[in-house]
Amino acid sequence: MKENIGLQTTAVHAGARKDDTFGAINEPIYMTSNYRIPTDGSDIDWSGTNSNIYARNRNINQVVLQDKLCALASAEDCAVFASGVAALTAIFTCFAHTGDHVIVSEVCYSATNLLFREILPERYNIEATFVDTTDTEAVKKAIRKNTKLIHVETPGNPTTGISDIDEIAKIAHEAGALLSVDATFAGPISIRPLKHGADLEIHSMTKYINGHGDSLGGCVMGNKELLAKIKEEAMVNYGGILSPFNAWLIARGLTTLPIRMKQHSSVALKVAKFLEQSPAVRFVWYPGLESHPQHELAKKYMNGEYSGMISFDIKGDEATHTKFLDSLKYITHAVSLGDIESLIVYYDKNSDKLPHYPDIYREGFFRFSVGLEDAEDLIADLNNAFKACGLI
Ligand SMILES: Cc1ncc(COP(=O)(O)O)c(C=O)c1O
Repeated sequence: MKENIGLQTTAVHAGARKDDTFGAINEPIYMTSNYRIPTDGSDIDWSGTNSNIYARNRNINQVVLQDKLCALASAEDCAVFASGVAALTAIFTCFAHTGDHVIVSEVCYSATNLLFREILPERYNIEATFVDTTDTEAVKKAIRKNTKLIHVETPGNPTTGISDIDEIAKIAHEAGALLSVDATFAGPISIRPLKHGADLEIHSMTKYINGHGDSLGGCVMGNKELLAKIKEEAMVNYGGILSPFNAWLIARGLTTLPIRMKQHSSVALKVAKFLEQSPAVRFVWYPGLESHPQHELAKKYMNGEYSGMISFDIKGDEATHTKFLDSLKYITHAVSLGDIESLIVYYDKNSDKLPHYPDIYREGFFRFSVGLEDAEDLIADLNNAFKACGLI
């Protein structure tokens, strides 16, 4: 869709094909594993993803979702997978090979961490250097002759640290490496990695893109050449493709992403401001707060919508933290993020991930995904829980 239309119009209309048989307004779900193959001499892409042959190569619901994502993220091409981790491994295995070196954000999703700390170095001899990518100089210093990929998570999960994509893209390209950016914490509207020089943009679609907490999915976006490799290698031959039903659910969720992100961002800013001034709170990081260590970068990259992800901690011992979780009414203690409902997860003092995070996180903290509820109700919920714990 090339017309100059608004984001919300794009989210509703891009990728929509409509049903020619019955005139249904909604896209049908194509629950088919194979398709009739033409015998009229037309070209058939037997081993790629350009012909309707078999659902591991191509499925209409995947294509509709990919087209919608491309229109929203201004990407040339997109590949969707069965989970965010399948999208990540597609990139890592397509663009890092035996003997290559990769630079990875020290604060990153746990599967990315494990893949680069253990599995890829030990089994495939891929070297990885973990650096604080919010420190651009540290990225520069980590470059080696064999660096082939820089993988940045911004905002970082769970700390919300922001990295300077423009500058890191320059460093990557001078070194002849690719830059991939996992922007799951912000979604494809609040941050636009491709516009800032990233070669590949990744999201766990399980989070903001779907938004409704009812299916897993992942996507990779970039130029046609890189995506052709990803599609042929990872979609067709590793096979972690997205089912038609989940593609349909996620495409439906995606139609409301622009309005959801506005609400997530405005509610989260109010909640973060409330947390910042509460005597019950030990610290709070939210990219929209002036006190966030990379607030200036967040202003540049997040276009005034700082997403719904907050990390914070309360004062008190482990028992107080547990009581706090038990006292919440609308905010649920659960993993995942980016859903319509607020979710909170506790990283306790003994979490093996804490050593990779900034000092202030080492005593334990909460990762809080602010949903679409009214800010006043979430603030009241937090305040009541603080009272129940004797913190105020
Ligand atoms: C930043 C980030 N990337 C990737 C993933 C993995 O996504 P999925 O759970 O869909 O495999 C997650 C999941 O929480 C995440 O937070």
